[in-house]
Amino acid sequence: MRQIGKNIYSVGAVDWVRRLFDELIPLPDGTSYNSYLVKGSKATALIDGVDPARHEDLLENIIDSEITNLDYIICNHAEQDHSGAIEDLAVLYPQAKVVTNEKCKGFLMDLLDLTQDRFKVIEDGETLSLGNKTLKFIFTPWVHWPETMCTYLVEDKILFSCDFFGSHLATAELFVKNEQAVYEPAKRYYAEIMMPFRSNIEKNIAKVTAEKIEMIAPSHGPIYQNPQFIINCYKDWGADKFVNRVMIPFVSMHESTAVMVYYFAKALMQRNVEVKLFNMSSADVGQLAITLVDTPTLIVGSPQVLGGAHPAVANAVFLANALRPKTKFAGIIGSYGWGGKMVEQIKGMMEHFKAELFEPVIAKGLPKNDDYKNLDLLADKIVEKHKALGIA
Ligand code: FEO
Repeated sequence: MRQIGKNIYSVGAVDWVRRLFDELIPLPDGTSYNSYLVKGSKATALIDGVDPARHEDLLENIIDSEITNLDYIICNHAEQDHSGAIEDLAVLYPQAKVVTNEKCKGFLMDLLDLTQDRFKVIEDGETLSLGNKTLKFIFTPWVHWPETMCTYLVEDKILFSCDFFGSHLATAELFVKNEQAVYEPAKRYYAEIMMPFRSNIEKNIAKVTAEKIEMIAPSHGPIYQNPQFIINCYKDWGADKFVNRVMIPFVSMHESTAVMVYYFAKALMQRNVEVKLFNMSSADVGQLAITLVDTPTLIVGSPQVLGGAHPAVANAVFLANALRPKTKFAGIIGSYGWGGKMVEQIKGMMEHFKAELFEPVIAKGLPKNDDYKNLDLLADKIVEKHKALGIA
């Protein structure tokens, strides 16, 4: 248990060892499930719980806080990494009401063993008095579930934002001390969790910043005493701002696709375009997601295997499509031996991309002169498009 303000404590858990989130995104820096205890003169509230795997940390911290009573358990978001420990708390504090919105209550009743009578349902903008402290609930739907909300502690001007503004970073530091160190873990978090809901994020930033915020206390990663840092990051990542870069997730089985990818990467570099390659047989898909945030052009490199795209490349395209990135231009390069439907398959997996598609460059076996020429032409076209975006 650590104090973050007068009668406000951090009581969650740092998960130093977790290495995969959603069984999908690698966590090179671990993560945390933050939970906050607010003691008012008349009532005490806990804001969000922790992942069930670390519920003992939360219970120990609450016991350390020596509270005699817990009146409210505020649930900003029903996903189990925050709500999972609520069931145990509800047993430990049978008089405590679970405070949340109607939609979140429905999810919690689906996910946990909680009965109707345990809930106090609140509306958007409603306040809850703890005596000398007041909680205000601000609904922020789709950051990243439909029921997500934030809790604003009026007197202390702290926004408890749950997933919103979070980062996957296990650290001993309660507060962000080095903004550059938290930038990438926050971007990794944004890329997987928030990027698919970009337009909602913009609206919800405007909504929460209508309050004067002096501190953002998310439920993953350290607390921001300079809230503008992460607010500005979110604005940048959501805006139509791009780097003069091409990203190339690829796989090659017998080097033909690799020869094309390396030639193409060199052609781009010679044209002063930054290139990021991801060999999908070993790449960190979190890095792939991070790169999607501000890269305007995605070129997929795949051989044809068993009549279609290589599954490791298909996985990258499937994930990128699910993340609904703001990619402006896309293309496919690769090689085949005896035919197949690789191009059609990859195109078919890009339904959420609003990107302009370039003509594919596909070689039979090793690339020949015409294939190299077409790769050069593709590099020229990308430069032209990036110039039009004002980034080349
Ligand atoms: Fe951190 Fe959407 O849960």
